[in-house]
Amino acid sequence: MSSSRHSYFVIWRFVISNFWIFVCITAGEHQYLKTSEVGGDSPRNHTNTHISLPHTHFDESTSPWVEQVGEAPKVYYFHNFLTDTERQHMIKLAVPYMKRSTVVGGEKGAGVIDDIRTSYGMFIRRLQDPVLEGIEKRISLWTHLPLSHQEDIQVLRYQEGQTYGAHYDSSYDKDEFGPKYRLATLLIYLSDVEEGGETAFPKDSIYTDPSIPVRGAPWSDCAKGHVAVKPKKNDAVLFYSYFPNGTMDPASMHTGCPVIKGIKWAAPIWIHVDQFRPEELKNMEVVKKGQPPDPGVCDDYHAECSNWASNGQCLHNQKFMLDVCRKSCKECEHCALFDLPCVNRNRAQGGYLPIDREEMKSLGVDLWQQPEPSPEL
Ligand SMILES: *[C@@H]1O[C@H](CO)[C@@H](O)[C@H](O)[C@H]1NC(C)=O
Ligand SMILES: *[C@@H]1O[C@H](CO)[C@@H](O)[C@H](O)[C@H]1NC(C)=O
Repeated sequence: MSSSRHSYFVIWRFVISNFWIFVCITAGEHQYLKTSEVGGDSPRNHTNTHISLPHTHFDESTSPWVEQVGEAPKVYYFHNFLTDTERQHMIKLAVPYMKRSTVVGGEKGAGVIDDIRTSYGMFIRRLQDPVLEGIEKRISLWTHLPLSHQEDIQVLRYQEGQTYGAHYDSSYDKDEFGPKYRLATLLIYLSDVEEGGETAFPKDSIYTDPSIPVRGAPWSDCAKGHVAVKPKKNDAVLFYSYFPNGTMDPASMHTGCPVIKGIKWAAPIWIHVDQFRPEELKNMEVVKKGQPPDPGVCDDYHAECSNWASNGQCLHNQKFMLDVCRKSCKECEHCALFDLPCVNRNRAQGGYLPIDREEMKSLGVDLWQQPEPSPEL
């Protein structure tokens, strides 16, 4: 049995390595794959955009390649999926809006805070800029699933002790609570983690090859004995919640193991059986307008704010006013440029993640770094 699994793995590696050789040969020097040919079925104008494929010498540690690690569930590991620049761009977009995560399961499927999930997170709007669009097209290309079936990319941060308990990403029964019909999950790692933080499949999961966990050791107790992968920045893991016949795969239950040492940044993208909010894609230009206000910045976002505030609206219309008129409601303080402690006080009032300069530096993100004063001439 294990030898047949082993040969499956060998065949798979053969197919994958030759896939890239094939891609490199067919991509040639100046030829690219048109996105319109790779599931770019969003209604935006893609005439002028292409995905270029790497055309360098194959090197396991830097070239993109795919490895199947799970037989049950089907788990695929994408090596070197993102570039450093793309990863840092995603973190930069996400950091201002990172808030305590919720889980689906409230009334009418609303997000609720639950101790099963103790991280901070946010969703990056789809197709927000060319970098993000490039990443989303690559996801479509690598998963062979259309871009319009992807949810917004979520960005999550787990610190020591934080975890996401075992759960399924999709429910099968129409009447069951929980998210519906997420065919596959792609989890992109945005940081390395010193210890713990593995993505593990605790329910009867089977490796494609018994040598994989041996090569990957050591594992935290949470991951030991199960199919599991370690977070590594720029890499990603893909798994399916359903069998090809459309029934749910019980082995797709998974958990974000507790982070033991370090901080884990990761970005799950759920890919649905059907298009995800197609009406939103049709109105992309509308959706893109109006970035939410930065919670670290103290400002009013409507010309009438001071009038409304003096009419007592800060109390009577609290929810709206605290979003739109924080300054007039005196719910924040004006911060000098680069006064991060002040910005963090404003953020804390709204339940947002305090920004840590050292952590940002270790991720290669220069948010909130005061520029070096230019030398006197
Ligand atoms: C799409 O974009 C190209 C290049 O910018 C332009 O020439 C073309 O007219 C556009 N097509 C549509 C349908 O807007
Ligand atoms: C669907 O496929 C799975 C895995 O091969 C199998 O265990 C299950 O019995 C199948 N279900 C149906 C209804 O065919």
